[in-house]
Amino acid sequence: MSQYSDLLYEGKAKKVFKTPAPDQYYLEFKDSLTAFNALKKGTFENKGQVNRDIAARVFEYLGGRGIASHYVRAEGRNGMVVKKVEIIPFEVVVRNVLAGSTAKKLGIEEGVALSEPLVEFYLKNDELADPFVSEEQIRIIYKIANAQMLEIKNYALKINEYLKELFLGIGIRLIDFKVEFGKDGQGNVLLADEITPDCCRLWDIKTNEKLDKDRFRRDLGSVKESYEDVKQRLMQVLK
Ligand code: TMP
Ligand code: ASP
Repeated sequence: MSQYSDLLYEGKAKKVFKTPAPDQYYLEFKDSLTAFNALKKGTFENKGQVNRDIAARVFEYLGGRGIASHYVRAEGRNGMVVKKVEIIPFEVVVRNVLAGSTAKKLGIEEGVALSEPLVEFYLKNDELADPFVSEEQIRIIYKIANAQMLEIKNYALKINEYLKELFLGIGIRLIDFKVEFGKDGQGNVLLADEITPDCCRLWDIKTNEKLDKDRFRRDLGSVKESYEDVKQRLMQVLK
């Protein structure tokens, strides 16, 4: 239970509460886990706490490298105080190695390293199951200027470089990840949502073993153990 009672929104993996501060929200990480647009549901004990711990450390690490995010502080067992932002309704996926939906769509075997990081945009819309959108579609249909998309793309690429380095240092290959951005009251674009094994593909460097939500999606077992492993490894390098 959180100390906040004014629930604004409940998502698949998090709840958003109002706080006494008008420009801050409280995010509570739930123990639930979903895949395939919530067709598949699961849970494991302490998942919320593990993911909060991972997300908080990753945001602090990125913040130390000049990546502005909505993160303010970890609070409570499984919560985080964040700056209030208006989420930009596009999910930004960065791929270093081809896997998941793009590998499947193009009929290419998973695990092919890309010659440069690939940035893709998906419309954040559960009813439509988050469809892929091209940059031209974003510009012409959603009227978002090229310059703003370029800013977001470059931001995502910078985040990718820092995350690759962080994970490499703990024996993990960052295959791909999804991030979301939001705008604060002053119009600044901030990294938002979360960075956890729910929204990254993380493969052990030595064994290629998956340490992320694919273990749940694909019924590979040891979901909890893998998330905890990622947290433990991060704690060895980040306080
Ligand atoms: P994909 O290969 O299924 O498109 O996923 C790419 C990355 O984005 C992968 O690390 C999982 C993450 N992701 C999310 O976090 N949320 C989503 O809704 C989807 C589809 C992917
Ligand atoms: N996060 C999405 C869901 O909850 C899709 C996925 O990650 O596979 O359904």
